[in-house]
Amino acid sequence: MKIDVLTLFPAMFAGPLDESIIKRARDAGLLDLKIHNLRDYAHDRHKTVDDRPFGGGPGMLLKPEPIFEAVEALKRERTRVILVSPSGRTFNQAVARELAELDDLLMISGHYEGFDERVREQLAQDELSIGDYVLTNGALPVMVIIDAVTRLLPGVLGDDESSHEESFSHGLLEYPQYTRPATFRGMSVPEVLLSGNHAEIAKWRAEQSRQRTKERRPDLL
Ligand SMILES: C[S@@+](CC[C@H](N)C(=O)[O-])C[C@H]1O[C@@H](n2cnc3c(N)ncnc32)[C@H](O)[C@@H]1O
Repeated sequence: MKIDVLTLFPAMFAGPLDESIIKRARDAGLLDLKIHNLRDYAHDRHKTVDDRPFGGGPGMLLKPEPIFEAVEALKRERTRVILVSPSGRTFNQAVARELAELDDLLMISGHYEGFDERVREQLAQDELSIGDYVLTNGALPVMVIIDAVTRLLPGVLGDDESSHEESFSHGLLEYPQYTRPATFRGMSVPEVLLSGNHAEIAKWRAEQSRQRTKERRPDLL
């Protein structure tokens, strides 16, 4: 998968996407990630990317010209252009699976009060929110989406890290899990997990998943 990111803060992306599973995916060529500075597409002396909103009001908006120029330079035939914004559809595991089927994304990260509406109308093919709260800029939402999508790409997770039985994979939360020691500070692992009876273990896990979802996230049922 190829992902281009357009941002005012390229330095924020160093670190989270250079570690662990995402680093491995990049090193293996499964994710080709490029971070682009929006200011490189502003041509005045001060590299201006923002301006005051027509009609007044607080804060600044990202101007259309640098974003249009950047998208026109970076977009290929099959690229899906995605804005991150609190007004977008809510990103979740189903959307992550949908994006993991694509092979070319261009993600635009906002700042200040957001984007001139013409960017939404003309350039964006999708608009995603990572939740009902407002962050200072779109770098964290973009990184959250890249992380969730990349781990679903074929070959990224090893056998030991499969995404098949984890939370949301079947619309339910994950069941409780334990590792050694079997008894720790007087707290024992449920007997069934030590029984070696795989059918009983699968049944217990399914029940626990349903129970936990009912208690914590009944909206998922
Ligand atoms: C301060 S926010 C702008 C908020 C905007 N004035 C509003 O009320 O929707 C600046 C940028 O951060 C990003 N952002 C903030 N919160 C976000 C969220 N929950 N999901 C996705 N992007 C978000 C967006 O790119 C947004 O343009």
